[in-house]
Amino acid sequence: MCGITGYIGYKNADKVLFDCLKRLEYRGYDSCGIALVQSDGIKVIKDTCRVKELEAKHKKVNSKIGIGHTRWATCGEPTAANAHPHSSCGDKVAVVHNGTLDQFIPLKEDLISKGHVFKSETDTEIIPHLIEENMKTMSADDAVKKALGTIQGAFAVAAIVQNENKLYVGKVGCPLVIGVGDSECYVASDSSALSKYTNRFIYLKDHDTAVLTPDSIKLFRNGKETEPEIELLDKNLNDAELHGYPHFMLKEIHEEPRVITTTIDDIDDLTTLLAMVDKDLGGIRMIKTLACGSSYYASLMMRYLAPQILGIPTFAELGSEYCSLTKGQKGTLAIAISQSGETADTIKAAKAAKANGYKLMAITNVKNSQLARAADYVWTTKAGPEVSVAATKTVLSQIAALYSLILAHPSLSKLNKEDAMDTFRKLPDQINKIFENVDSIISVASYLADFKDAIYIARGLNYPIALEGALKLKEISYIHGEGYAAGELKHGPFALLGKEVPVIAIVSHDENYDSLVTNLREVKTRQAPLIAISEENDLTISNLADYVITVPHTKPILSPILNLVVVQLLAYYTAVKKGNPVDFPRNLAKTVTVE
Ligand code: F6R
Repeated sequence: MCGITGYIGYKNADKVLFDCLKRLEYRGYDSCGIALVQSDGIKVIKDTCRVKELEAKHKKVNSKIGIGHTRWATCGEPTAANAHPHSSCGDKVAVVHNGTLDQFIPLKEDLISKGHVFKSETDTEIIPHLIEENMKTMSADDAVKKALGTIQGAFAVAAIVQNENKLYVGKVGCPLVIGVGDSECYVASDSSALSKYTNRFIYLKDHDTAVLTPDSIKLFRNGKETEPEIELLDKNLNDAELHGYPHFMLKEIHEEPRVITTTIDDIDDLTTLLAMVDKDLGGIRMIKTLACGSSYYASLMMRYLAPQILGIPTFAELGSEYCSLTKGQKGTLAIAISQSGETADTIKAAKAAKANGYKLMAITNVKNSQLARAADYVWTTKAGPEVSVAATKTVLSQIAALYSLILAHPSLSKLNKEDAMDTFRKLPDQINKIFENVDSIISVASYLADFKDAIYIARGLNYPIALEGALKLKEISYIHGEGYAAGELKHGPFALLGKEVPVIAIVSHDENYDSLVTNLREVKTRQAPLIAISEENDLTISNLADYVITVPHTKPILSPILNLVVVQLLAYYTAVKKGNPVDFPRNLAKTVTVE
């Protein structure tokens, strides 16, 4: 979704803004722009193009204050006129905005009746006009504050005003962070866009506004001036550089062994947190997970793990489909899972669950996200910033966190815990083995790239991985992929099978193995090309399948983690083979802040 940036200081603002916009590209966008304060007014440059194309068109100017934006169209088509920044009459005020405004039509009509002329179809454009209108009777500082108090809906806003050596920001419902430098301030939708410049951040809360100069930050919380809290971020956990990898997606998959190690390192803290949750609830008797997209597929793991291992009934709900009709029953824990912590559908479901009396735990990769703030308990996955639109290491971190939750539960015996931890600790090395043997994945990917459709199947714990594999494939390779529980094939999808539709089977060596092998025979009988992801030395599978991608042996219960890495790499290399823009797939946004 839209990305915001801003700069005030001693550097050339245009250079900083273009650099930060490139770091926000991962959020997905269709147009971009910057606005700069100059001695003779505000200069706006914007278009429906990539950031580097806009930068090439821009003639360098000497300005130390500016704002920038990547737009993912919601209100008004993706055109140059609708691109941000938006400015008031005569370009006296310029604004960038992330979010959607409610009830903006009456405000717009009122402004038009006062002589304001609008140039776009966006809701955003009312903001610079409102500020300009307010400035007729008050200072620029008060005019911005009043305008941000007048608009309704979700927004993160950055504004500049002609002849003011200041940068104005404010937010309700959308993320915005101030990066603190020496005699300079930065603004962005997320801290990783600023990681090159600073590790000191102020995370704005809803209804905060701030006035920034190179040497001061005046923060207003609900209108009252408040001392800003500066947080120091670990550089490693805020690193968003490619470090020699051709794509962020590949780099992020290669960070997965570290993600497992970090999860294991945190297990004592999680045990303490879970003991507190268990005590507050008088024992966890039921779990409801709430999530969207890949995070939903991660959450499906809990539906298998918690009943099987802890005997706790668990229901996985899609954030976008959650109907909060039932009152929270005693002992029910709602767990909302979201890497960004900003997904509108998940937040809405989480808030509804809380309103219905459920205790809410958030599992998120972003500590200060909206979801984290709405929750009673927060577990932060430490995957580090994920730039590629297709989620990989964060999905693995969510799944690893859910396994840890099971291991941290007070009812699990010490013996079982230690045994499971030993197997868990081997996973980073086993994932590295998958990387070493990537050639077999690359050759299957080259084969897969020529098909239009593919079906992923699995049973039990690996079923969510089949769903995730199919989602990854469609997102970045644009091949239509569907994930099915293998037993469901004969209930309909069989009609699709044939030479044109390869089946990718995730084989786990558990109680479902024999039934899955029967399903694979059925697939072969219908002449569909069969690709199996399976442990080494399985003759039954190598005799049946046309291609086998082998994974190291682990306990069947942990096999989804290794299989996840394989389906991610398969999608990645298929997309590379097709020459697709792997990190920024068409029509997709990284953080989905609209319902
Ligand atoms: C898929 C993907 C999306 C997200 C979904 C939820 O690769 O990235 O399906 O998983 O938009 O996002 P979060 O986890 O931020 O709530």
